Amino acid sequence: MALQRLLPVSLLVAQALGAAYPVITPAPSLEDRDEALKRDIDPGSYIGSIINSLGSGVSSYIASGVPQFFQDFPIGEDVEKALDIDDDDLKATPTQVLNIPGYANWTESGWSVRIHGNVFKQPNITQEKLDSLANKFLIGVDINDLPENQQDQARNFTASIFVVQQQNVSVTVNFQNDVNVRPDASGGVVNAKGGAQSIDLPYNTTSEGDFDAWLTLRNTTGPNGGHLLAGNATEQIQALNIYTNGTDTGNATAYLVPPTGFTIISDIDDILRVTKIYDPKEGLLNSFARPFVAWEDMPDIYANWSATIPNFHFHYLTTTPEQVTRNYMDFIYKTYPLGSFDTRPLNFSDVSATLSIRKALLDKIFQTFPQRKFVLVADTSNSDVMKDYPQMVRDFPGQVQCIFLRNTTATDSSDLFPYDTSGFKGIDQKQYMFFVNADDLRGVDIVGGNCYNPAVKQNVTFEYQGRGFGNDAGRAIDWSWMTLYAGLLVTLGQVLL
Ligand SMILES: *[C@@H]1O[C@H](CO)[C@@H](O)[C@H](O)[C@H]1NC(C)=O
Ligand SMILES: *[C@@H]1O[C@H](CO)[C@@H](O)[C@H](O)[C@H]1NC(C)=O
Ligand SMILES: *[C@@H]1O[C@H](CO)[C@@H](O)[C@H](O)[C@H]1NC(C)=O
Ligand SMILES: *[C@@H]1O[C@H](CO)[C@@H](O)[C@H](O)[C@H]1NC(C)=O
Ligand SMILES: *[C@@H]1O[C@H](CO)[C@@H](O)[C@H](O)[C@H]1NC(C)=O
Ligand SMILES: *[C@@H]1O[C@H](CO)[C@@H](O)[C@H](O)[C@H]1NC(C)=O
Ligand SMILES: *[C@@H]1O[C@H](CO)[C@@H](O)[C@H](O)[C@H]1NC(C)=O
Ligand SMILES: *[C@@H]1O[C@H](CO)[C@@H](O)[C@H](O)[C@H]1NC(C)=O
Ligand SMILES: *[C@@H]1O[C@H](CO)[C@@H](O)[C@H](O)[C@H]1NC(C)=O
Ligand SMILES: *[C@@H]1O[C@H](CO)[C@@H](O)[C@H](O)[C@H]1NC(C)=O
Ligand SMILES: *[C@@H]1O[C@H](CO)[C@@H](O)[C@H](O)[C@H]1NC(C)=O
Ligand SMILES: *[C@@H]1O[C@H](CO)[C@@H](O)[C@H](O)[C@H]1NC(C)=O
Repeated sequence: MALQRLLPVSLLVAQALGAAYPVITPAPSLEDRDEALKRDIDPGSYIGSIINSLGSGVSSYIASGVPQFFQDFPIGEDVEKALDIDDDDLKATPTQVLNIPGYANWTESGWSVRIHGNVFKQPNITQEKLDSLANKFLIGVDINDLPENQQDQARNFTASIFVVQQQNVSVTVNFQNDVNVRPDASGGVVNAKGGAQSIDLPYNTTSEGDFDAWLTLRNTTGPNGGHLLAGNATEQIQALNIYTNGTDTGNATAYLVPPTGFTIISDIDDILRVTKIYDPKEGLLNSFARPFVAWEDMPDIYANWSATIPNFHFHYLTTTPEQVTRNYMDFIYKTYPLGSFDTRPLNFSDVSATLSIRKALLDKIFQTFPQRKFVLVADTSNSDVMKDYPQMVRDFPGQVQCIFLRNTTATDSSDLFPYDTSGFKGIDQKQYMFFVNADDLRGVDIVGGNCYNPAVKQNVTFEYQGRGFGNDAGRAIDWSWMTLYAGLLVTLGQVLL
């Protein structure tokens, strides 16, 4: 990546510091970028021109916090174009289904379960081509310079991005009460004793290959006369396996969650694993190549909560694109308590929707469980979290029990992104905590509603803060991440050509 050809750093700094830190505006659409690149404009000056035009999307996006740099994965025809795929070859490859573990609520007609995921084909990509595609995601390092296990991971990750979504296909799922939850493996999760049945989803996949539907489960009798427990007759979370007809790739588990109790909604990057999303070069290596690593002793904290908070429902919500969900689930289920999952669906792939997807997913789970109380966990480097989490307190009165945000700036000098704490103004201090180390969470009392551990030094100014914003004025600021980020936008844009 030739950084030199990118815009002068001073321009970025002037923009970032001079702007009034507006609310994020959507970045320019992918089409615009695509068009501009097609017109053979030098990428450096293209980004420069965007940053230059005051109030433009990218400048406010950069100024407002960490970008979701995985926002522009290619979909549909772009994949076929990039790979020069032969239609007949593709037809011959098996159809696969990503079925994402969902939750169910108790309604007047019984258990209503959310089934979501997508249908795709995995083209046969030569290693040479895969390597060249993988290199576009890595900054300043060639895939061949990585250790062998990291090369494999990078190829795996890249292959899972370059899949061809299958639109307008029907999906049939098959529920089986054959989960084998180890006793005490996860809070109050128990195996459902009935409920086996096959159901056709009410509509075909969208043009992006997505499906997201609610199905009502019949109360079928299982072996030994077992049956599903009614939601108002149990506090426990029942687990039911889901298989997808026609493929063995669409397996998942559904969690039948009673109307009352506590649910934790946890982000993953930089809270459950070390990503350094605010440091693009590292962030990409940590996502594409290196094995996922848990952050500090969060696994112990979650294991303890799972064991001590009765029937605690775990829900993992990340805005990472759906294509790489398997890698995330693989890590989470090996490291953290079992639970349902949400990632960014493909029909939310365009850049403007990226900024509202977290709120949409949060609203959905809050509306599904109007009597449950929620614990929200993430870190300060997500600008959408900083806005959406406190907004949930206002939009759903009484439903937010605790908000825990890891202060990434405090432990990581490479995090130079400012973050906005103004959303917390007026919220009871007992309801939230900005913490530094995972162990800070040991002193909180979730069930009792004492979410702030007074031993933790916290300084919420209800405005933009972070390095270079008065909190750490003495430091020399290295704005080179901005050029890296600008470079990254170009990189991902080019993948599409
Ligand atoms: C449990 O829920 C069902 C369905 O909503 C309802 O018919 C039944 O009366 C409820 N039972 C109790 C004890 O609330
Ligand atoms: C993929 O393509 C290579 C040659 O390009 C071929 O040797 C291999 O058998 C193919 N694999 C599958 C699963 O079709
Ligand atoms: C990548 O690895 C995951 C986890 O091991 C596996 O489930 C998946 O099939 C692999 N994907 C590809 C495209 O090879
Ligand atoms: C879906 O496929 C069916 C059968 O091939 C076809 O009749 C229908 O028009 C298609 N719908 C869309 C939206 O493409
Ligand atoms: C749904 O897809 C199936 C093929 O998977 C097709 O036969 C059917 O006509 C489609 N239904 C509609 C309503 O488009
Ligand atoms: C299923 O039926 C059994 C036996 O009639 C009943 O005890 C149980 O509450 C029912 N469960 C649901 C989910 O309706
Ligand atoms: C799906 O699989 C189940 C279980 O094997 C079977 O009972 C059902 O008929 C299948 N449905 C379709 C539409 O293939
Ligand atoms: C899905 O479940 C089926 C039936 O238990 C099993 O044969 C298959 O290996 C599973 N698929 C994966 C990817 O684990
Ligand atoms: C169950 O979830 C659906 C979908 O979010 C929601 O519309 C409905 O109100 C919920 N039902 C109850 C009883 O909470
Ligand atoms: C485990 O969690 C409980 C609250 O659920 C808390 O009181 C206790 O201090 C925690 N223990 C450890 C070792 O973190
Ligand atoms: C985060 O940590 C930094 C460095 O210790 C500190 O200056 C800042 O005030 C903290 N932010 C919050 C919200 O506590
Ligand atoms: C909190 O941060 C503000 C600016 O961000 C700073 O002026 C103030 O001195 C800090 N307060 C403490 C107690 O550290």
